[in-house]
Amino acid sequence: MSPTSIPPLPAGLFSTDTGRASARGPALVLVHGAGECHRHWPPSLLTVPGRRVLAVDLPGHGGSPGPALPTVEAMAARLLEFLQAQGLGPAVLAGHSLGGAVALTAALLAPARVAGLVLIATGARLRVAPEVLEATRDPSALARAAETLAGFSVGSEAPAGLREAYQADLAAAGPALHSDLLACDAFDVMERLPELRAPALVVCGTQDQLTPPKYGTFLRDCLPGSRLELVGGAGHLVMLEAPEQVSEAVEDFLQRLESAPPVLS
Ligand code: COA
Repeated sequence: MSPTSIPPLPAGLFSTDTGRASARGPALVLVHGAGECHRHWPPSLLTVPGRRVLAVDLPGHGGSPGPALPTVEAMAARLLEFLQAQGLGPAVLAGHSLGGAVALTAALLAPARVAGLVLIATGARLRVAPEVLEATRDPSALARAAETLAGFSVGSEAPAGLREAYQADLAAAGPALHSDLLACDAFDVMERLPELRAPALVVCGTQDQLTPPKYGTFLRDCLPGSRLELVGGAGHLVMLEAPEQVSEAVEDFLQRLESAPPVLS
């Protein structure tokens, strides 16, 4: 294939896409967290039966060319462009951590484009400890910072090897990790949650140290038409620590979405 015949990435973003023409209901669009990419979702979420699923890489992550975008708003705007370029109708946006912030912001920017929200290990405000920001600033010291962050990211029942694999991925994320954490630190939509009307599923591990259950409870309490799935023993990587429970909760949410009346203002 000659280089000129390679189709451009829609809106410059790489994504996996189950793309089933026969899929029913709104597509499920997965948005990764800081320093992550499409590889940080479990197979059971990347291929929900009967559903079109896309796992997007934000600029500067995984298969998407960089640099990373500096703000959550810019990421949300780019995600919305991508959805438009794909010709997708209103979609269910699912985000992990930073990805949850992107999903919330996309829903605030373009409510008609969002059929539902799945907010995994995230919050309406994501301040980052100054020492973590400092530790990730210097690319040559990233290995050490990745070790610390990965240590805080898993609960006591995480599968063997997950922490080490995640640590290696964060260390390989390069400058995108620091840039993502700066974007998290500036993110705050706590006052704006009541504006949102999309039904939401909030997922949180009981041992999450980076976005603790308090953040999930706040989302549940402030988002009309939302419910909270607490995952016992899981940490910040809840979707990789307890993939079955998280995937079942998401499938149940998607099924209910089809039969539920819209949330009225
Ligand atoms: N949902 C609900 N409550 C939240 C919240 C959220 N998303 N974010 C903050 N709050 C609460 C805090 O619990 C705190 O409540 P309190 O006063 O009752 O204790 C209050 O709002 C202010 O918290 P915060 O905005 O975080 O400022 P802070 O100066 O208290 O703490 C940090 C700042 C950085 C020390 C703190 O956020 C922290 O420890 N973060 C580390 C975790 C981290 O780095 N996470 C990465 C996220 S990607």
